Amino acid sequence: MSKVLERVASAARGSRPGRRSIGWGPTAEREDGVARIGILTGGGDCPGLNAVIRAVVRKGVNVHGHAVVGYEDGWRGVIENVVTYLTPENTSGILHKGGTMLGSSRTNPYKEDGGVERVKESLAAEKIDCLIAVGGEDTLGVAEKLTSEGLNLIGVPKTIDNDLNATDFTFGFHTAVQICTDAIDRLHSTAESHNRVLVLEVMGRHAGWIAAYSGIAGGADSILVPERPFDIDEVCSHIRRRHQRGHSFSIVVVAEGAVPREGAESLKTQEKDAFGHVRLGGIGVWLESEIKERTGFDTRATILGHIQRGGTPTAFDRVLATRFGIAAIDAATEEDYGKMVALRGSDIVRVPLADAVGTLKTLDDDLYEVAQVFFG
Ligand code: F6P
Repeated sequence: MSKVLERVASAARGSRPGRRSIGWGPTAEREDGVARIGILTGGGDCPGLNAVIRAVVRKGVNVHGHAVVGYEDGWRGVIENVVTYLTPENTSGILHKGGTMLGSSRTNPYKEDGGVERVKESLAAEKIDCLIAVGGEDTLGVAEKLTSEGLNLIGVPKTIDNDLNATDFTFGFHTAVQICTDAIDRLHSTAESHNRVLVLEVMGRHAGWIAAYSGIAGGADSILVPERPFDIDEVCSHIRRRHQRGHSFSIVVVAEGAVPREGAESLKTQEKDAFGHVRLGGIGVWLESEIKERTGFDTRATILGHIQRGGTPTAFDRVLATRFGIAAIDAATEEDYGKMVALRGSDIVRVPLADAVGTLKTLDDDLYEVAQVFFG
């Protein structure tokens, strides 16, 4: 269906009697009685984004009678006003698909010439009542700043890194952990056959959640995380002790942001993205040569990279993403702006966007202590 036809169809659906308008702008009522909800997916993609989009559209259109406007490629699509009109029909069959049908980018409106003004103009041009931003600390950081400028936003927390404050879990994390755990299981058998030390480097940026969860689940003999700078001599003595006890192989899981004591993060490049982030990576290869040199054991490194972000979401992430999407469209309908939907225990709650951004949620000490019991 063409964009124009989509718009007509959406408006027709929304104009059914009994539909409630959430208002156009802070004071004036919408003329057509249809609330227009925008949605974007920003930052690094992760499994579950399509499940959020589907849930927002399904409940937004079928239950609340809204029109849903998808912005392509994160904040870039808002700045450039590139939209796709979303319907239950064109968002059907995407629940199990990885990536995002809307595309994503790491565009930061606050770093673009006239970026914020262009965001405001494009939301006004599409008559957007509320924009749902699905993202991590960067995307939601922009959402929080725009909220303080008077725009209507709702946040949905996503990232494989699980490093977002104010929510117990982000969707995407569980899938990434499962992918890493499967990789560790596979590494085990080949490590054992060749009497090797195998090092697995996983993502997570400055937080060790993926490394700790997958390391515990996969039975790693050492887990190195950014929150605990490591002593390479200690890592090697764990491995030696294990081999002295008769084990012929070891598995070391290292987070990309892990740092040796008195060392620095391993970077792929010094270049920074629009949010000031460097690209991490390479600590696994450094460990491979250090462990080999210090212990004499044959050692190999594997870097999982973007495999951790690709493919189909786990059932847990599909359900979490769906619950987040439903909660976000309900918050938009109730005009409860400036909030992020979050998981607390087993409940979905709303928290101020400001609580989610600013500081990172780093790895739980208690969890790392569980992992340590199995080292060496
Ligand atoms: O934030 C998600 C993440 O996958 C991090 O774990 C990783 O450091 C980064 O994104 C990689 O970013 P890019 O896809 O830009 O290489």
